[in-house]
Amino acid sequence: LPEAAAEHLRILIVGVSVIAVIVVFFISSLVAGNQRLRKKHIALRKSEAKYRSLFERSKESIVIFRPDGSILDINDAGMELFGFECKETLSHCNIKQVYPSDVDFDSLVITLMEKGFVKDRELVLRGRDGRMLTVIESCNAVFDDQGQIVTCESIYHDLTQWKRLEEELFNAQKLESIATLAGGVAHDFNNILAVILMNAQFGIEDSKSAVQLQNRFQEIKKAAGYASELTQKLLTFSRRQEFEPELVQLNDMIAENEDVLASLLGETIRLDLDLGSRLPYMLATPVQVHQVLMNLVTNAHDAMPDGGVVRIATRCVAKDDIPFETSPKADSRHYVLLTVSDTGVGMDDTTVSRMFEPFFTTKEVGKGTGLGLAVVHGIMERHRGHVRVVSEPEKGTTFMLYFPASDKTPAAVLPSVMHTSKQPQRHLTVLLAEDYERLLKANEQILGNMGYSVIAAANGLEAVRAFEACHGNIDLAVLDVVMPELGGVEAYQKMQERTPRLPVLFLTGYDAGRTLTNLKRLNQEHIVVLNKPYYLEEFVETVEKLSRLVARSTA
Ligand SMILES: Nc1ncnc2c1ncn2[C@@H]1O[C@H](COP(=O)(O)OP(=O)(O)OP(=O)(O)O)[C@@H](O)[C@H]1O
Ligand SMILES: [Mg+2]
Repeated sequence: LPEAAAEHLRILIVGVSVIAVIVVFFISSLVAGNQRLRKKHIALRKSEAKYRSLFERSKESIVIFRPDGSILDINDAGMELFGFECKETLSHCNIKQVYPSDVDFDSLVITLMEKGFVKDRELVLRGRDGRMLTVIESCNAVFDDQGQIVTCESIYHDLTQWKRLEEELFNAQKLESIATLAGGVAHDFNNILAVILMNAQFGIEDSKSAVQLQNRFQEIKKAAGYASELTQKLLTFSRRQEFEPELVQLNDMIAENEDVLASLLGETIRLDLDLGSRLPYMLATPVQVHQVLMNLVTNAHDAMPDGGVVRIATRCVAKDDIPFETSPKADSRHYVLLTVSDTGVGMDDTTVSRMFEPFFTTKEVGKGTGLGLAVVHGIMERHRGHVRVVSEPEKGTTFMLYFPASDKTPAAVLPSVMHTSKQPQRHLTVLLAEDYERLLKANEQILGNMGYSVIAAANGLEAVRAFEACHGNIDLAVLDVVMPELGGVEAYQKMQERTPRLPVLFLTGYDAGRTLTNLKRLNQEHIVVLNKPYYLEEFVETVEKLSRLVARSTA
């Protein structure tokens, strides 16, 4: 080949190789670029899936919307919270609908424009079904290049349940402190009433010749009687009253009271009973269940001035079927449900929220003390039960009371042996202990009038000393339960060391607790408890009954 041609060929080969290298390089960088792109795409998809899952599965409600409120996206929690039905129709939905007013929504958008976000704003929204929802709202705005809001991303934390529990706790604490106060006052008040009652009785007896004066004393006695009923209600409410539950059948108790309840309701109100079959037994104090029934039926009567229907129903319900607002206090698996409903005037929300407060009444002065439902509440607490109320103005009211059911049935009761021996009385010595001086004096006088020798003591310690000093030659003891230095029960236990079956009458302003209950549980006829304030007749009768025991044991 000529020299020039060879040179051309070389140049051509070099040129082709350079182009080949460039092409190879170009292709390989294209492939690499493509791979990088694919990797990026995969990473993007993964990240998208991750955040979508975070959005969809979050238990907090997340809503993305335009500044005019039109919804772009909402997660399942949000759908449920606000009650939106299906995502497909969301384009017609506006988040403004759940805000109480347009002003509330607009203020959110204005803050977003100014600050770009809103953090932890508490507000009450309204779900699509009308439910009020307390929520904490946090929201971020996304802006475009011109600084205009494109979308708003809002998270709503539902506080509704918390708020309700908080309110219930607050109410429970309020009731608790009022109960303590009421109980304390009622206890002291009982001592005073006991003195009034007794002196009124003395007055009646001393003024037999002066009829007018005797009438006055009768009035004092009657008034003190009413006052004593009032303190009794307070003590029941404050749970200081004796609580001695027994196994009872709710149906039996209702049947026993049917006549009384019907007469309470009068002729214009019909009483319907719907008693469930095979109710389990429950541990309850019959007097208190009776009181619950009376209080609820009285309220129903007052709520139906133009007549109506009261329905009393009983059922056995499983714990799991009860919508407890708070955790149940008892661990029973079943509850006995007592429902008392009326077709009366019903209550508005304010009355419902305050009805259990003692002294809360909407009735005119002299018509209601406002203690009826406070007592019901106290009794249900005592029974570790639960009360629910549904009421609507002009529609009526339903009270649902859940008593924990017992899985026991009562053992056959042995007939008690009545002692009616009438032994002649010998001269007896009574040891009397009471720290409230006026009551001590009054009791001393009565016992003296009854013909007993009385040794009086101002507290338990003095009583024990007096007992020792007369070498246990005491026939009968009358002891106040709560006294300084040494209480009545403790004093009695010391006396029992010498005289195990010493007849005793305990006087108590309220349940002095386990010791007294334990003593009584022994079911010994020589131990009797009388609640203050008692009527003179009751006191005399009880002391006489105890002294007959002495007579019998010494006969
Ligand atoms: N069945 C009912 N229907 C309508 N309102 C009721 C009903 N039960 C209770 N209330 C309302 O609750 C308030 C408190 O009731 P509660 O029984 O505690 O007191 P009271 O009935 O007013 O007085 P008291 O029972 O001490 O004589 C009542 O004044 C009434 O407004
Ligand atoms: Mg009432």
